[in-house]
Amino acid sequence: MHFLSPILESYIANSSEDEPKLLQELTRETHLKVVQPRMITGHFQGRVLSMLSKIINPKYILEIGTYTGYSALCLAEGLQKDGELQTIEVNEELHEIQRRYFDRSGFGPKIKQHIGDALDIVPELDLTFDLVFIDAQKVNYDAYFEAVIQKTRPGSVILSDNVLWSGKVVEPLQKSDKATAVLLEYNQKLKEDPRVETVLLPIRDGLTLSRVL
Ligand SMILES: C[S@@+](CC[C@H](N)C(=O)[O-])C[C@H]1O[C@@H](n2cnc3c(N)ncnc32)[C@H](O)[C@@H]1O
Repeated sequence: MHFLSPILESYIANSSEDEPKLLQELTRETHLKVVQPRMITGHFQGRVLSMLSKIINPKYILEIGTYTGYSALCLAEGLQKDGELQTIEVNEELHEIQRRYFDRSGFGPKIKQHIGDALDIVPELDLTFDLVFIDAQKVNYDAYFEAVIQKTRPGSVILSDNVLWSGKVVEPLQKSDKATAVLLEYNQKLKEDPRVETVLLPIRDGLTLSRVL
C-alpha cells in the first residue's frame, strides 16, 4: 500500500541516498527466484535503516526475519569496526542467497546467520544488543519484543517493521484478521510500556523506534 502518492514516494527516494548496486542486484535476484519478494525492505527504507544504524553505531545488532538479507546488509553498514550482526531466519532455503550477498558486501565475517525460530534462538544468545530489528511474523511481535528486551541495555533501540500493516490498523477490524488485532495491541503496548520511549514513523509500512529506558 502507498500511504503517499507514487510521485511523492519517488521524489523522496530520489532525494535520498542512492541504493547501493549490490542491493539492487539482491532485489532483482529476490524477485526472480524467491517467493513473496514484496517482503524485501527496498531502497528508501533500506537507506533509513542504514542511516539509523550509522547514527547509533552499534557494536551488536540483532535481526529477526532475515529473508534474503537486504535489511541485514543495510543495518551492517553502521556496525562498529569489531561489531557483529546476528540475524535469525526460520526458512533454511534462504541461507545460501543470504551468505552469497553477505560475503560479496564485505560484511560477511561480521554477520552470523541463525536458522530456526527466533523465539527459540534469542534466549540462547549471550549478548547485549545496541540495535534490534523485528521483521518476522506479526502474530509473534509481542513475544519477539519480550524476548529481545531482555537482551538490551538502557539506550538500546528496538525497531519494529510493518506496524501500520497496509493501513489496516485504522480500518474496521475483521474478525478473522489476527495479524491486525495483534499489531493494534502491540502498538498500544509500545506506547504505554514504561520500559521504552516510542515513536511510530510513517516509513513504508510503518516503522516503530523504541528506545530502551
Ligand atoms: C518480512 S520478511 C523479512 C524481510 C527482511 N528483513 C528484509 O528486509 O529483506 C520476514 C521473514 O521472517 C521469517 N520468519 C517468520 N517467522 C519467523 C520466526 N519465528 N523466526 C525467524 N524468522 C521468521 C520469514 O521466513 C521471512 O523470511
